[in-house]
Amino acid sequence: MKKPLTRRGFIRNAAAGSAALTWLGAHHPPQAFAAEAAKPALLGGTPVHQGGWSEWPKWLESWEPAVLKVLRSGRWYRGDGGHVAEFEAGYAKLLGAKRCLATASGTTALLVALHVMDVDAGDEVIVSPYTFVATYNAILINKALPVFADTDPATLTIDPASIESRITDRTRAILPVHIYGMPCDMDPIDAIARKHKLAVIEDACQAWLAEYKSQKCGTLGDLACFSFQNSKHIPSGEGGAVTGNSDELLDRCHAFHNVGRATGTFKGAKPYFTRGGNYRMQQFQAVILMQQFEKLVRETARRRENADYLSTHLKEIPGIQPARLPENSRAVWHLYPFRYDAQYFSGLTREKFLKALAAEGIPCSGGYHEQYFDGLLDEAINSRGFKRLFSAERLKAYRESFQDLKGNRHVCATTVALSQNLLLADRRDMDHIVEAVRKIQSHGAALAKAVA
Ligand SMILES: Cc1ncc(COP(=O)(O)O)c(C=O)c1O
Repeated sequence: MKKPLTRRGFIRNAAAGSAALTWLGAHHPPQAFAAEAAKPALLGGTPVHQGGWSEWPKWLESWEPAVLKVLRSGRWYRGDGGHVAEFEAGYAKLLGAKRCLATASGTTALLVALHVMDVDAGDEVIVSPYTFVATYNAILINKALPVFADTDPATLTIDPASIESRITDRTRAILPVHIYGMPCDMDPIDAIARKHKLAVIEDACQAWLAEYKSQKCGTLGDLACFSFQNSKHIPSGEGGAVTGNSDELLDRCHAFHNVGRATGTFKGAKPYFTRGGNYRMQQFQAVILMQQFEKLVRETARRRENADYLSTHLKEIPGIQPARLPENSRAVWHLYPFRYDAQYFSGLTREKFLKALAAEGIPCSGGYHEQYFDGLLDEAINSRGFKRLFSAERLKAYRESFQDLKGNRHVCATTVALSQNLLLADRRDMDHIVEAVRKIQSHGAALAKAVA
């Protein structure tokens, strides 16, 4: 790649001079060439993409009889399983997991998995900071400390090299998050876990059908958690699952999610052998989910195809870096992220770039921010319970450690993310995304000046 200075100089010329545009034309298809010359939508030009994007969630009329049948049966709760058990068998099969337990949500799946892996009050769990805040909360609700490893800016997932230095005598588990459906590099994580006798719980809440070295996410740790919330690739309004390959662990999960009632291995004279809550899925959720197995497989293939196409073309644009996946792995792209370097866009800030891209008809966001500075962790560590469970020195050092998350800070400041429904569109629409980025780059300096 050319040096930033040369590129910046080139981009300035490209916006103003025809010689640079001729150079550009030799490298890119004619339609991109035309779009680059056009005025950005934010400066009064025509948006590159018009006509919107696919709505989400989508359902088919053919699902209605199954839902109506549940309604008319009056059997809406889980009880001994019914459709929920059918869904569990189907979802486990889809992943190649031995077992699946359906839950009320991804959060409750995490609560169940953390409890069953013996994460107790006063313990510590090493976790990706770059995740939806529910991951932090599930650990905090168990009165354990979420200890953040750093994020690898190239992959946006947990940097395995940053885990070991964070292990203390309180650490019980590692909780890697396959964020945006991109698998974490699990081999080094597993090796660290084995060495220090720690549990591995995958947060696969955004990773339905993602693959790492030919195995599906959800089968790579001791237990894994999924979400089927409304925005997800297989939604049921709310819903979740714990998956794994151990009958004993899944029987424990089942009991804990069902007020501690013994099942499977634990069925005996005493029905309540453990504590538990009510984290059960309803029959309605299960029938809606079961309608979507084939749809999930089909749409995953489409998202992958479009994401691969986008990555190929976006990485040709100086200053745009699509995420790198671990070797031999396949993402499912709940969001499609790339990292943005303002230097190559005449200093146009990421926030202004997001506005310019949205104005071109490409909905986008900056992904997650540094949520550990939002107050939820301060509220937790200043609570009576946490003060009783951890020493003042530990909590002080813990709070200070957020400053060390340099990789995560960089990722939070430079990521641009497109939501999954964009990847269900046509190839021509993917070209629009690439064209819009190129157009903004060509007019970076003007946009930097004009946009508030
Ligand atoms: C990474 C991650 N973890 C956990 C959750 C929690 O799932 P739910 O919203 O179903 O409780 C989500 C859901 O958005 C998520 O994206």
